Amino acid sequence: MNIILIGFMGSGKSSMGIRLSYQMKQPYIDTDKEIERTSGKKISEIFEQDGEPAFRQMEHDMIMSYLEKGVRNHVISTGGGLAVNEDNWEPLKKLGVVVWLRIRPETVMERLAGDKNRPLLQTEDRETRIRELMEYREPFYKGCSDVIVDVDDKPPERIMDEIFTKASGANRKKKRKR
Ligand code: S3P
Repeated sequence: MNIILIGFMGSGKSSMGIRLSYQMKQPYIDTDKEIERTSGKKISEIFEQDGEPAFRQMEHDMIMSYLEKGVRNHVISTGGGLAVNEDNWEPLKKLGVVVWLRIRPETVMERLAGDKNRPLLQTEDRETRIRELMEYREPFYKGCSDVIVDVDDKPPERIMDEIFTKASGANRKKKRKR
């Protein structure tokens, strides 16, 4: 089973993805890292030099390439905007079980205080930006996901267990439907 982690910046998609891949003995893919590797640029440089739409296209192409290659039994973490693009919903759902790591804006503020790597958060009023962006994005994360795991105030082991248990249940259901 492929497990795909979606959700807002700072929700722990990468850190949980790495832990999960270790525990499940499944290879790990991070779409942001893959885009940086294949383009030879940092995400911030892509945003600056090519613009956000170009980055979103790269994200889409990346997901399509996993489907074409028939990537199986991986843990895949995505950038926070990838699931906001509805063109990615069907490919993601085909690829595996989509898990939304849901987080409160306050926790994002705490975790990403001082972050300089995320182009979308480099504004004067970061709190308002996070709140507005999250409010806008939540229906997309919901629509794209098979299961939801709340991450606030939980130790990583518990989050990991929940991801695994819920994803396994959803995977069984998906298989029955096919
Ligand atoms: C983005 C999130 C980032 C990265 C890019 C855009 C977003 O990934 O893809 O800066 O639109 O939310 P993380 O969610 O891993 O921070």
